[in-house]
Amino acid sequence: MNPEDLGRTDFIIIGSGIAGLYTALHLADAGRVTVISKLDLCAGNTRFAQGGVAAAFYENDSPELHLEDTWRAGGAFGDRAAIGVMVREAPEVIADLIKRGVKFDSRNGAVLLSREGFHSRNRIWHIGGDATGKELLKVLLRDSKKKKIHFYENSFVEHLLTGESGCCGVSFIKGGKRFLLQAGAVILASGGCSQIYCYSTGANESTGDGLAMAYRAGAVLRDLEFFQFHPTVFFPPRGDPFLITEAVRGEGAYLVNHDGERFAEKYHPLGELGPRDVLARAILMERERTRLPVYLDLRHLGAAFIRERFPTVYHRCLEWGLDITRERIPVSPAAHYLIGGIVTDLEGRTAVRNLFAVGEVASTGVHGANRLASNSLLEGLVFGRRVACAAAAIRTIDRGGGRIKVKEYLAERNRSETAAGNDSACRAVRPLLQKLLWEKVGLLRSSFGLEEAVARFEQWLPLLNCRFMERELCENQNMLLIGLMMARAAAARRESRGCHFRDDFPESDPRLQGRHLVFKKQLQETGDMPGLDWDGIFHDYRNGGE
Ligand code: SIN
Repeated sequence: MNPEDLGRTDFIIIGSGIAGLYTALHLADAGRVTVISKLDLCAGNTRFAQGGVAAAFYENDSPELHLEDTWRAGGAFGDRAAIGVMVREAPEVIADLIKRGVKFDSRNGAVLLSREGFHSRNRIWHIGGDATGKELLKVLLRDSKKKKIHFYENSFVEHLLTGESGCCGVSFIKGGKRFLLQAGAVILASGGCSQIYCYSTGANESTGDGLAMAYRAGAVLRDLEFFQFHPTVFFPPRGDPFLITEAVRGEGAYLVNHDGERFAEKYHPLGELGPRDVLARAILMERERTRLPVYLDLRHLGAAFIRERFPTVYHRCLEWGLDITRERIPVSPAAHYLIGGIVTDLEGRTAVRNLFAVGEVASTGVHGANRLASNSLLEGLVFGRRVACAAAAIRTIDRGGGRIKVKEYLAERNRSETAAGNDSACRAVRPLLQKLLWEKVGLLRSSFGLEEAVARFEQWLPLLNCRFMERELCENQNMLLIGLMMARAAAARRESRGCHFRDDFPESDPRLQGRHLVFKKQLQETGDMPGLDWDGIFHDYRNGGE
């Protein structure tokens, strides 16, 4: 089917979570901005974010302390320059949000800052108790609607269009039809890929589309072996797992085994506020040791406090008949956040001209090998503003130009892809790959399991050559591509570091300090190739260059 040519805009932003909307707001006065959202506006993980936004604002704290906490939580693997930018600009974005009318929780005029794991100070700004993401989106969406921003909802971006001047538009599918939209610059704010695992805290739409399309367009991906698992997730009898925010532990909740014994300190001196990966493994070990569930116990915090401070958690658990003011919450780890992503510089530029990335999809280097709690919303805000500034500054003459010739685009796509896809094989692959990644590329990894995972993924690769119009099938292709990269990177990193834990190599290897695994497609004249090009070699890959 021939795509409909929608003409041209100045900036396309893919994604309408915190990173996408905040970027859009800051870019709106620089030209025509079009936001494309896969589902309704505000889809993605932001709306589930409970904890808050980390920012050192007051005198008893400092950006330097925030930097050290972020760096240490990231296994001393993060980019200190990038972290420095994020923590120094954090107070500015908080001030901007307050100016926009965001009402951070406060009492008697004093902001109620909370603590989460590995933070040395109370510096988490939250809204509505544990509804931070949802409440922030309301304000950002309201402000976006006051600007001249064009929104396409329920529109699945399948490809980035590239030409001589870099990225110059997208093709997307909406209502069974394909569209082309050209632009001066494209900004990926499309989130991560937590759906790649069968148990995750993330949105169902979080399928790694941005990562996959950026790779196909020639951007560089790195650190895909680092995927963070959240230790405390409630698995209801039916439906999606539900995050129990780390803030409950920050307020003093205990992790206990079935006999009510606290065990976190056995695994880390910071106890319940230790790193997420350590606590997640501790929960698995405690469960294996006792063969019984592990719980979060909030009861000693008091019913009134629990209801006021954690209304989302309280009501969600109550829906399943669990009154957390009287009962303990059974918890298990689940996949939470992709640490790696598309390599960007400090203004969100990728290796492809006029293509930017921001938020979970990007790898700015701030998270190192493991992310500090409540730095994800912050990263989206700080770098969203920076991306907007950089994109706005591209001289008109340097913007993605040379209109895409629709006929040539079609001829190219048709050459590189078979006419019809194998629908049923591609549909069936999602649960298989989700289970495979959970079992073999999950919290505990070993050579044997990782090699098995890589081999299984390679068998599925022919599916990447098929062409589909259905969103679910395109997503499955994206998950296949990213899942293979994650498995390969995890197999190649023969050490444990941050959230990447290998049973067979439980220590960090000092020779791999600061060394990254990167994926970069060798662009072929004939377009997409099945399989995956990478050299499997560690690089000192820092913010866009070697
Ligand atoms: C949480 O509230 O525990 C999650 C917040 C985060 O991942 O930073």
